Amino acid sequence: DWNSGNVIAEQVERIREQVGSGRVISALSGGVDSAVSTALVHKAVGDKLTAIFVDHGLLRKGEREQVENDYVASTGVRLVTVDARERFLEALAGVSDPEQKRKIIGREFIRAFEQAERDLMAEAEADGEPIRFLVQGTLYPDVVESGGGAGTANIKSHHNVGGLPEDLQFELIEPLRTLFKDEVRAIGRELGLPEAIVGRQPFPGPGLGIRIVGEVTADRLEILRDADAIARAELTKAGLDAEIWQCPVVLLADVRSVGVQGDGRTYGHPIVLRPVSSEDAMTADWTRLPYDVLSKISNRITNEVREVNRVVLDVTSKPPGTIEWE
Ligand code: XMP
Repeated sequence: DWNSGNVIAEQVERIREQVGSGRVISALSGGVDSAVSTALVHKAVGDKLTAIFVDHGLLRKGEREQVENDYVASTGVRLVTVDARERFLEALAGVSDPEQKRKIIGREFIRAFEQAERDLMAEAEADGEPIRFLVQGTLYPDVVESGGGAGTANIKSHHNVGGLPEDLQFELIEPLRTLFKDEVRAIGRELGLPEAIVGRQPFPGPGLGIRIVGEVTADRLEILRDADAIARAELTKAGLDAEIWQCPVVLLADVRSVGVQGDGRTYGHPIVLRPVSSEDAMTADWTRLPYDVLSKISNRITNEVREVNRVVLDVTSKPPGTIEWE
């Protein structure tokens, strides 16, 4: 019967055999799958592995620190962070169209990753041990989905940023290929990874870039990051994380509405809360959050986040609404 300890032992042995004397790279996204697959490979081959983390500036509050501090502390993985924040902002300047944003983010991600990869290649070759492998956090449902070829309509371009070039000349290591998400989480816990990473709800690769309706700018990211951190903290405090599949927090950056604060009129932006319940993200229903929790989130966001004077709740199921707004 299934036991996370056995799976780890088996995989470690298999990975060691596969890798031999080559070196390995891996892309960390901050999500569960890349975190667990990378930790497994690290357990097997140690410092033959280097993990690459691209900070595209579209992360939520504390996510980079979670990877750089907590994840590294619990695994001992050798990590290279690429600070690509400026470059993403420049590439996204003036762009409001959702598909266009996704394309730009995907392209820039690959460029940033490849830059780091080239640097590591040069170093590895100088050491006489070339990089030959790339870790992928592919799960069983991903395998089924891509093999099935059911011809699903491309409703949004889910190129899955994190999301690497297809022409990489590396052999893949995919230690999670036979596993489901809950099994991957169990393995992550067994490996001692931080709960904030192992228990993380889904978060899109393009990050906050597709949660700002309108152009992405540094100021707007700051506003959204603050509002999102408040919503997440209050949902966690109310013990609702298990009940919610995910709760996108969206900034309507091109909309303003009139408000009043103290004795002054305000003209600020609305924040949308989009809590959903779902089994697989293919369909979803809006989560009936307790009014007192909604009220707390709304009060805190409007009091603490400059520029936001209104909080609204999205009560649309999927279909017809998608989970994300872009
Ligand atoms: P939608 O908005 O299509 O989202 O109902 C379904 C699920 O997919 C996530 N999502 C993405 N994940 N890259 C990702 O890795 C993306 O570009 C992307 N777009 C949406 C979304 O958060 C939800 O869980």
